[in-house]
Amino acid sequence: MNLPRHIGIIMDGNGRWAKKRGLPRSAGHIMGSKTFRKITEYLYDLGIKVSTFYAFSTENWERPDEEVNSLLKLFGEYITIYYNDSEMKHKYSSVRILGDKSKFPEELRDRFLELENNTAANASEYQLNIACNYGSRDELCRAFELLRDKDGPITSEDISNALYTHDQPDVDLIIRTGGEKRLSNFLLWQAAYAELYFTDKLWPDITEKDIDEALEFYSSRERRFGKIDKDNK
Ligand code: FPP
Repeated sequence: MNLPRHIGIIMDGNGRWAKKRGLPRSAGHIMGSKTFRKITEYLYDLGIKVSTFYAFSTENWERPDEEVNSLLKLFGEYITIYYNDSEMKHKYSSVRILGDKSKFPEELRDRFLELENNTAANASEYQLNIACNYGSRDELCRAFELLRDKDGPITSEDISNALYTHDQPDVDLIIRTGGEKRLSNFLLWQAAYAELYFTDKLWPDITEKDIDEALEFYSSRERRFGKIDKDNK
């Protein structure tokens, strides 16, 4: 099977999953974080080299404090589990946070930085990106700022090189759960030629089988990158 080099996943539907069960939204995020861990490890087992999970958008700060705090707590807990679980460390040789970390509470920001620094050297083996306080437009503004003083024309390569994902392949496949069919400011530049896969299933309900289906869909696509296929020449 033809595997994507880089998969992006928009984990949507935690709130609805909880509501259906009469639970607070935070319960959906707790279950969602378990699914996150299960699926990250599955992607490793499949041999996917780079994956990016959308965990917290620049707009998510507008949610009620209780919900924001529950998400921040889950991020901290994930880092603790990461350090204490040798199996997981082996599977995620490198973890990078995509997004502006300066907005997080100091302790979490420092732990994110420490995790990135401790694992950066292993990026060529397996890369897990967690998009946190991330928005593609923010990322592009940051890139343009970095390029502000460059002499000569700005090329598409310059922009790619100024993104959080500067040393990683473009996204080949985006999966969005929860029924919506939009990109919601996620990896807009990197996903220029990505195949898009949508499922109605809510993120906490996602299993390895759903990922297999998305990968089968990807494998069946003929990617032309704006050119025409061989038979039409
Ligand atoms: C969108 O669903 C999901 C989020 C805003 C949070 C996603 C975060 C996780 C799954 C936890 C990840 C954990 C780690 C450790 C990275 P929603 O709440 O908007 O769902 P709704 O559309 O049903 O309301």
